[in-house]
Amino acid sequence: MAEPNVQEHVELIREVFSYANRFQDSTFVIQVDYTILDHPYLPNLVKDLVLLKQAGINTILVPGAKGRIDDVLTRYGISWESRRGIRIATIEAIPFIKMAAFDTANSLLTLLTAHNANAVIGNWVKARARGVENGIDYHESGIVERIKINQLRAVLDQGIIPVFPCIGWSATGRPYNVSSRQLASTLASELHAEKLFFITDTAGLFGKDYVIPESVDMTADGRVSRMTVSEARDFLEANRGSEAETMYELVEYACASGVHGVERIHIVDGRIEGVILKEIFSNLGLGTMVHANIYQSVRTMRQEDVPDVYRLMGPLVEQGVLVQRTEEKLSEIYPDFVVYETDGTIHGCAALHQFPSGDAEIAGVAVDPRYSHLGIGHKLISFLVEKARRLGLGRVFVLTTSTSDWFDALGFREGSREDLPEDRRLRYDETRRSRIMALDLS
Ligand SMILES: CC(C)(COP(=O)(O)OP(=O)(O)OC[C@H]1O[C@@H](n2cnc3c(N)ncnc32)[C@H](O)[C@@H]1OP(=O)(O)O)[C@@H](O)C(=O)NCCC(=O)NCCS
Repeated sequence: MAEPNVQEHVELIREVFSYANRFQDSTFVIQVDYTILDHPYLPNLVKDLVLLKQAGINTILVPGAKGRIDDVLTRYGISWESRRGIRIATIEAIPFIKMAAFDTANSLLTLLTAHNANAVIGNWVKARARGVENGIDYHESGIVERIKINQLRAVLDQGIIPVFPCIGWSATGRPYNVSSRQLASTLASELHAEKLFFITDTAGLFGKDYVIPESVDMTADGRVSRMTVSEARDFLEANRGSEAETMYELVEYACASGVHGVERIHIVDGRIEGVILKEIFSNLGLGTMVHANIYQSVRTMRQEDVPDVYRLMGPLVEQGVLVQRTEEKLSEIYPDFVVYETDGTIHGCAALHQFPSGDAEIAGVAVDPRYSHLGIGHKLISFLVEKARRLGLGRVFVLTTSTSDWFDALGFREGSREDLPEDRRLRYDETRRSRIMALDLS
């Protein structure tokens, strides 16, 4: 009975193609912590990054070099100090730091070459001295000022993977040791990247180690799987005093990039085989993700919204597009609904009705026609799909008479009546003959 396996493969290939289409021409910045550069899975990680590049994703690599710099300085008998997690790079140490940073970038370049990828190490980072902070002189430790974005884009346009050592230069060519995390965050912001990855040796942010804002959901093992940028800001505020800790610093950079429009910042564990592909293609939510507040206008419906939502649905009910719901009925089921609101006015709504079978129905989707084509419908559906995922549901489905193409474009696939939970199947309205579109969340 090989057939089901083949079908599973076909489904998987379809899914991969749809993701590949979605991310075509997008930009991912990937910072790899120095601890992962020695990990046995590194070659696999690099292979996966090359695959992403081949799928049309602009991929930029920023390796951390702390381990290599420590080794080189020790070997040459140069002592160093760190304050608040930042190395004080003396004038004596900087040539060795530079050597170690380029050496680290070079080892990645070698691995990329082994996978036939075109890659290049560049000097596109403008930096300035960190200077004296709280009485501490950081000497040749620098801060990233800006990226020479035009030169970088020219490299990306040629299909080349740029690799960034943790060095930046002043206008007069003086080298500074910069943080690879800050560099990655700045790159992602300036390139308006879709994703920024911090590949670390930790499984993410855990509630046992920090004060977590109340609105943030946690997984059963106490991990923060996702936070919005504003929640990340609250997190930083609530954990003042932990600035020197890696996770705090990563959330700080994630937040900075999020504010600059990077949609998703993933802090993931590089010790998991295939972590980057798993995170992108399966929505398994490994590690911790900070995401832009794209749903900021979507909120749960309140009792006082009932008249507005009823008005919004009215014309669509008359056209036979939506099922009739009385104001009384809406007053009962409003907690299942979310609305899209701007400046106090509701422009869209949609509901998620859960079934004991672990499925949920998306229903009552309506967008004010004066506000159509602005992505409101899409945001409402994405919001509900994310909610269903968070609730651990296996599948969402929708019954629609005239919008199956729209749902198809959102990744839903046509199903049959047999796919419906039993009580919903019994209530199927023969006169409407709606199509059943379903999205698998497992
Ligand atoms: C379908 C609906 C929710 C889309 O809302 P929206 O905010 O305009 O959607 P988005 O902006 O996210 O997406 C718009 C895209 O979807 C496409 N689209 C809209 N309605 C569509 C339909 N019925 N079939 C196929 N594609 C459709 C548009 O062409 C548009 O593409 P474009 O931006 O390239 O021009 C809205 O048109 C609506 O309220 N329709 C009536 C109610 C309904 O059918 N509900 C679903 C059944 S529960």
